Amino acid sequence: MSAVNGSLGAAHLAQQLGPWRGADGTARGKSLQTALAERITALVLDGRIAVGVRLPAERALSDAAAVSRTTVTAAYALLRESGFAVSRQGSGTYTALPDRTAAGLTGGWHDSVRGDHVIDLMCAAPMAPLPEVQAALRCAAEQLPAQTGIADFMPYGLDALREAIADRYCARGLPTSPDQILVTAGAQSAITLVGRLLLRPGDRVLVEGPSYPNALDTFRAVQARLVPVPLDGDGWVPGSFEDALGQLRPRLAYAIPHFQNPTGHLMDPDREASLARAARRAGSWLLADETVTDVALDVPAPAPFATAIRAVDSESVLVCGSMSKSFWGGLRIGWLRGPARIVHELAAARAALDLGSPLLDQLVAVAVLRGDEAHLERQRDRWREQRAMLMRTVDELFPAWTYRVPEGGLSLWVRMDREEATGLAHRAQTHGVLLHSGPRFGADAGTFERYIRLPYALPPETLVTAMHRIALARAVPGPWQAAEHRADLVA
Ligand SMILES: Cc1ncc(COP(=O)(O)O)c(C=O)c1O
Repeated sequence: MSAVNGSLGAAHLAQQLGPWRGADGTARGKSLQTALAERITALVLDGRIAVGVRLPAERALSDAAAVSRTTVTAAYALLRESGFAVSRQGSGTYTALPDRTAAGLTGGWHDSVRGDHVIDLMCAAPMAPLPEVQAALRCAAEQLPAQTGIADFMPYGLDALREAIADRYCARGLPTSPDQILVTAGAQSAITLVGRLLLRPGDRVLVEGPSYPNALDTFRAVQARLVPVPLDGDGWVPGSFEDALGQLRPRLAYAIPHFQNPTGHLMDPDREASLARAARRAGSWLLADETVTDVALDVPAPAPFATAIRAVDSESVLVCGSMSKSFWGGLRIGWLRGPARIVHELAAARAALDLGSPLLDQLVAVAVLRGDEAHLERQRDRWREQRAMLMRTVDELFPAWTYRVPEGGLSLWVRMDREEATGLAHRAQTHGVLLHSGPRFGADAGTFERYIRLPYALPPETLVTAMHRIALARAVPGPWQAAEHRADLVA
């Protein structure tokens, strides 16, 4: 049983639920209790409600969410039945996670999935180290004894790695010195540091709508106010970000210019320059996330963000990057590139976070970055093959779903024919597939209910299995629908 993690206020939960009902108060063909239970489950699965948190008292939630107490009671019962909540005698109902081994996997499918039954489509990064990483690991292990003079923590990162990262920027056309580089534990840690150093509660942060969920959570965690700038089918609407910067003068703007996560859009260099200038005029920091830049499948890998602007215009531009997409998600090395002054302040601020990145991983990263990049082309071939297989399977199984073929990145951002992302993500889980629903990518609760993100980072045959399971999850009633069906029969 999970630990107790505090309790959740009724008003807060009602706000987190977002628009889970239609304007007419109904839940689009479902019972209200099912819709409410599905929404709470999605919040737990997405990590927006922690496990082990006490849910509000039924009467309080019924008032805050404007539903009857019977509906809340029935929804809590459904959560308990599916394993997403547990009751404790005299103390209330707490969020929980079901035991995955008992999660009702559908017979047959799981045999092909590396014995662990569950296919993780939440992660969009290479799941196994490439042979190049393994070779670099051997090389790093050999070098380790020679590193004994090095202090056990290095807030700026290993000099040799800062140099290798700076040299890579130079080779890609952006002059960079090692003192402009801070090595971090993945790009996520760079985003966290930026959030902690630059943001105060109430600061505005401009983000794309949709955007990378963990970055959104990072900004929420420091109580920033997220202001989404919607992307359309072609990506960044001309002038939209620049206008929002000029009008709102946010403290920070966060963008993913290359193969945007989750949409896959690619920003052109003129637009990058215009964005960087607009941020400078507004007095805002701009954090460009280049984590996915190397995953260029149909176009050459883009030049570093805003390469075309003058040095003075780039003073407010911070860029983060990572080894995790190009090499291996388990290699927890990323970086931040920015003015040396900011790198210095971030290095000082990180003491409260992690003191430094693991030395062995840093040595591996040096060896990988100093090696030749032929492996990246081979890796891109694999990704193209996986993308083609995923698209073929989606087209075959879900002809009404639409998506734009991304020129790069690791996922399809799929628009479904109905608003069912939250429920589908839940039902997919009971069929052994972990999936991020569209709302996870929205700054505002409850948006993107018609979308799901389907990564193609796994082998083709696993992707096919996953899509068949999702099709089954859509067709076969999950435990809740079955419960409702039984209730109908009784009535
Ligand atoms: C846009 C974006 N930024 C940052 C990250 C986190 O990267 P890392 O694994 O290097 O922490 C990811 C990972 O999926 C991502 O897609």
